[in-house]
Amino acid sequence: MATVLLDGSNPAVVRVRQLIDGTESSDGWTRCWEEGLTPWDLGEPTPAVVELVKSGTLPGGGGTTATVLVPGCGGGYDAVALSGAGRFVVGLDVCDAAIQKARQWSSISPDGNFIAFVNADFFTWEPPEPFHLIFDYTFFCAIDPSLRSAWARRMYDLLRPDGELITLMYLVEGQESGPPFNATVLDYEEVLNPLGFVIVSIEDNGVAVEARKGMEKMARWKKMAN
Ligand SMILES: C[S@@+](CC[C@H](N)C(=O)[O-])C[C@H]1O[C@@H](n2cnc3c(N)ncnc32)[C@H](O)[C@@H]1O
Repeated sequence: MATVLLDGSNPAVVRVRQLIDGTESSDGWTRCWEEGLTPWDLGEPTPAVVELVKSGTLPGGGGTTATVLVPGCGGGYDAVALSGAGRFVVGLDVCDAAIQKARQWSSISPDGNFIAFVNADFFTWEPPEPFHLIFDYTFFCAIDPSLRSAWARRMYDLLRPDGELITLMYLVEGQESGPPFNATVLDYEEVLNPLGFVIVSIEDNGVAVEARKGMEKMARWKKMAN
């Protein structure tokens, strides 16, 4: 898997920023997907997700089915890796081209029966039921920082009271614009703590892909009862 640095030193990222800059709608993201300009795309699940599934610490299994949401799922690799007996996953992306790609990827997966891909905007989409688990990777850092409070509110509303949020945080610094926008653990805490989310565990991502080594942490959050 050849990976590239996701920051302003990468010409592909500069072009992504030109396309997305100032677009209130999803047009910029759509153009990126349609032009195949997706420097964030690993072409396979991120190793941390594979490890997470193997760890046996995710909800679901043992006769129960947990529902999982992957917002901004892109090519769908992580969503598919999380799915399987015991976990039904919804991969959500605002771009139809991403959803088509994700469906194609899931069609070659043995866990294809445990997944659905939805083309909708995370900020307005209304599912029938809240989820047991939400997994965010390179979505928080992709959205404009002015939307971070709304991101947190959506996480709150889309999770069951006993649900879990897992953020695989891409902690890039020193960027004058984005995506990816600068992000710190504090940035997550500033929007999630006021809603009652607390970090249950946080660790460096020891299996990050080469270009992202030392830049990622995985945090697991729960909603505390008021
Ligand atoms: C940086 S990419 C990350 C994709 C995927 N998580 C990955 O790691 O490969 C961000 C994704 O979020 C999607 N996106 C941006 N705004 C969105 C929104 N409001 N609702 C849903 N998806 C959105 C984009 O289309 C894009 O696929």
